[in-house]
Amino acid sequence: AYTKVWDRLSRPLRDLRISVTDKCNFRCRYCMPEELFGTDYKFLDRNQLLSFQEIIRLVHLFADLGVEKIRITGGEPLLRPNLPQLIQHINQVQSIRDISLTTNGSLLAKYAGELKEAGLKRITVSLDSLDDERFGQMNGKGFRVGPVLQGIDEAARAGLQIKINMVVQNGINEQDILPMARYFREKGHIVRFIEFMDVGNSNGWRLNHVVPSKKIVELIHREMPLEPLEPNYVGEVASRYRYLGSNQEIGFISSVTQAFCSTCTRARLSAEGSLYTCLFGAHGTDLRTLLREGVDDDGIKEHIMTVWKHRVDRYSEVRLSNTLELNKKKVEMFHIGG
Ligand code: GTP
Ligand code: 5AD
Ligand code: SF4
Ligand code: SF4
Repeated sequence: AYTKVWDRLSRPLRDLRISVTDKCNFRCRYCMPEELFGTDYKFLDRNQLLSFQEIIRLVHLFADLGVEKIRITGGEPLLRPNLPQLIQHINQVQSIRDISLTTNGSLLAKYAGELKEAGLKRITVSLDSLDDERFGQMNGKGFRVGPVLQGIDEAARAGLQIKINMVVQNGINEQDILPMARYFREKGHIVRFIEFMDVGNSNGWRLNHVVPSKKIVELIHREMPLEPLEPNYVGEVASRYRYLGSNQEIGFISSVTQAFCSTCTRARLSAEGSLYTCLFGAHGTDLRTLLREGVDDDGIKEHIMTVWKHRVDRYSEVRLSNTLELNKKKVEMFHIGG
């Protein structure tokens, strides 16, 4: 049975972001710094991860509660064996009208075709620099830009819609803003510039590491004039612009300077099956145990509804006014995929 559910701030449950693995082949400084996630770091065992069957069951239950949009995340989701199979199944769930995947792009050239065949329509590639030196340092593995760009080309050839996400950090990759804008304008893909956030507990975030979107818009506008576009839908995270006189779009995600909690309809499911109602949540609600103890569909839905009905999260909105909140314990990004 279909039941919609609203939280304490009247926000419906509409999106589900599913992490399918906590593993990653990168060690981005802001997410899994090498010194904390070295070779002896213990990632989740196979039986700690939700199985595809368990994920698909949850997708059906979340869909019954109003979820229409799914995003597959990680860690790096393409490290999960047979991922296209999962996408194929999710694609068959009636009320899910949009599935997307966030990837670091390193394995995309290999999987783009299979993903498209499985029914995936669009993909988001995280890329923070076009310079091998800086990119290698930022991804912590010396991984080069070329294979990621090939992955993007391959995805375009396969017919996937593509967005590129660049997290901008003051003093780290500001010099990449214009080259990224130029390159992807030429390629015809949408780039979104993201304000660096204080996710997790180890990325050493300071407010002065953030380059405000306003500044980035001005920088690009000076060279390539922009004009604002209307949002595609209520609660869209990115502010959209286009290059004047063209249909080529570009976006800005101002998670710090213009928080968007008031329209946040996103739930997140960690790789081990915990439900988080905010990117900055301290702990999730264990759904895996319910699944494995044989609780029936209505029982699990009841549980999810109770969590959502009590939801009051608005971390990004309180961040700037309440610095005490900054020191609270938070879930790590690679558990819930951003
Ligand atoms: P579309 O479905 O393509 O519109 O995706 P999206 O605009 O929701 O963007 P995506 O999922 O690619 O998220 C891009 C970035 O926005 C993430 O990497 C985060 O940095 C930020 N972001 C997305 N959702 C949230 C959120 O709920 N809270 C906060 N604080 N930041 C978010
Ligand atoms: N601030 C903003 N975005 C972040 N991401 C990872 N860490 C941060 C952060 N501190 C983004 C990645 C990717 C998505 C998974 O989350 O670049 O686009
Ligand atoms: Fe991997 Fe993405 Fe985290 Fe980088 S940000 S370490 S690519 S999960
Ligand atoms: Fe949603 Fe939390 Fe992000 Fe605000 S900080 S937009 S409530 S996930």
